[in-house]
Formats: sequence, structure tokens, C-alpha cells
Amino acid sequence: MPSKITTLDEFIIRRQKDFSYATGELTGLLRDIGVAAKIVNREVNRAGLVNILGAAGEENSHGEQVQKLDMYANDKLIECLQNSGECCGIASEENEDFIVMPTLESKNAKYVVLFDPLDGSSNIDVNISVGTIFSIYRRVSPLDGPCKLEDFLQKGVEQVAAGYIIYSTSTILVYSTGNGVNGFTLDPSIGEFCLSHRNIQIPKRGLDYSINQGYYSKFDLEMRRYIDHCSDENLRLRYIGSMVSDIHRILFIGGIFLYPNTRKYPQGKLRLLYECNPISYLVEQAGGKAINTLLQRILEIQPVELHQRATIVVGSPEMVDEMKAFIQKYSAVPN
Ligand code: AHG
Ligand code: MN
Ligand code: MN
Repeated sequence: MPSKITTLDEFIIRRQKDFSYATGELTGLLRDIGVAAKIVNREVNRAGLVNILGAAGEENSHGEQVQKLDMYANDKLIECLQNSGECCGIASEENEDFIVMPTLESKNAKYVVLFDPLDGSSNIDVNISVGTIFSIYRRVSPLDGPCKLEDFLQKGVEQVAAGYIIYSTSTILVYSTGNGVNGFTLDPSIGEFCLSHRNIQIPKRGLDYSINQGYYSKFDLEMRRYIDHCSDENLRLRYIGSMVSDIHRILFIGGIFLYPNTRKYPQGKLRLLYECNPISYLVEQAGGKAINTLLQRILEIQPVELHQRATIVVGSPEMVDEMKAFIQKYSAVPN
């Protein structure tokens, strides 16, 4: 723990000078996301309680319907970003189309924000960790007008910031603006995210692999061979069912996370814009690698639609390289 506490807000402001073009908008956006994270955190922590309190007819003390937490998180993120006037548009895993910010100043805002408001939401009912993932791009459409689809369909390499919040035994916000990865733990006693993990570096290898092995028989040959290899090597299978949680572990102790194509999801299940790109950006910033099962770097895939899915192999660099060799050996992908 550093001798003097650095809060997320202090850290973000200090880092603003790293950007030659910075006008404070990006700083403001990151702070807004921090505020939304605290609000979502409060609700995630109360999830069990809300159910008890709202048991009669699923209503809370104000007589309102108890909302599904992923919709609640979605609404809070949109509200926090909408009020700020610092982004011109938002795209969310929970909304079919992107949202154009309505205020006058937003028309001149330079950024768009994309997010998965609650990742691993099926874990909520059983008190297992969930997360929020976000990604920020500079708009490519002209200022002084509404944002356009092309602002959101940018390659992951164009991200100017990305991060996640994990709501677990502690609530931790991890983000990068392209200059390393830092983590901030929420201190509930003062209601602030405090710098706790400076310059996170992913180990070159780890002892864990993370994949839904229940789908083994539905995977392609190279994936089955790789899983057999992990088992031969006595690697530990760790799979939470919340990508944020699995990636958080891998960032700190190393390992590999895989979500390949299955018969049910021929293109993979995870969303390129809301999950794969921000996570790949963070992992690469921490010294790791991220590719799809066609061996393309995730961050270089050109998105063609908002809810596009992608296969993903991400984590410790040597383990991703090893997986790549299995794909080259056993699949039809050209070497
Ligand atoms: P979400 O809750 O946002 O829909 O994401 C769930 C995702 C991801 O977090 C997780 O790794 C994966 O779906 C789990 O899928 P399977 O249940 O198919 O393994
Ligand atoms: Mn998700
Ligand atoms: Mn989600």
C-alpha cells in the first residue's frame, strides 16, 4: 500500500497531462464511470437484501418494481454519462442500437463510450462476483452533429481507454489509457477508489486455464487437443462464468482464458465491442496477448455490427502462443 493514499480522481487528473490533446473530457468520462461504478456496487451488494425487502410482489420500499440488476446497471451508466455532456454517444450490450446523447454540448463531445453493464449477470442470484466492462473511442464523425454508427465500429486498437470494475470480496476498478494498467480498490469507509495495484504486469505463464469445458465435445479438434494438453500438464481448470472475474485472476497470477466457437455459437459467444476489445486492450497493456481462433489479433478485427461476436484466446503471452501452435497444427487455418 503506498504511504499516501491516491484516489482514482487524483490519479486520473495527474495522468491528464500524459495526453497532448487532453482537454479534460476523457478525465471527466473516467470519473463519471467511477461514480456509476459506486452506484452499481451499492446495488450489487444489496442484491440479496433487495430480494428479501422486495419479496412481496417484488416491490421495493418506494413501491417501485425491483429491477433486474443488469438493467439497473445499464440505466445508471447511461444516466451518469448523459449528465456529463462529455460523450456524444453510448453503445451498450443491453441496447439494440446506439444512443445519441441529447444535450447541446454533447454534439461537440469528442468521445463515445461502449459497455457491458453487468458481466456474468447469471452469477448475481448465487452471490458470485460480477463486473462492468467499458471502452472509450474518439469519434470519427464530424463534431457539431450527432454521433454515427462509424464512431462505434472502430477497431480495438483505436481505443483511448478501457477498463472493468469487479464487484467481489472487494470492488476493484482496473483501467488503462494506453500507458500501463492500474487498479483501484473501493474503500467503502470513505467511498473512494484508492490506487492499490500500480502498473499491473501479467505473468508470462500461469498454472490455470479457463474455458467452459462442459462444451468439450462441441469444440473443434484443436481446442480439444489443447484442453487435453492442459490436463496432461496438470494445469488447474478455473472457470467462473464471468469473464471479468476470470480475467482479473489471470492478470495477476497468469493463465489463459478461451471462448472458442461451439455448435451453438459458431462465431463465439462473447461480444467484440463490449467484452473482447476492452479486455484484450487491458491484457495487451499488461504484457499479454489476445487473438481469435483464426489467429487474428482481436484488436485488429474490423467490426461490422454493434453486437458482433468473436472467438477469443487471451492471457499470458507464452500460453497464448502455445495455443496458437495447436491451432496451426490441428486446424485448417493456414500457417
Ligand atoms: P453477460 O453476463 O454479460 O451476458 O456475459 C456472460 C459471458 C461471460 O462473462 C462469461 O465468460 C460467459 O458469458 C459464460 O458463458 P457460458 O455460460 O457459455 O460459459
Ligand atoms: Mn458479458
Ligand atoms: Mn452483460
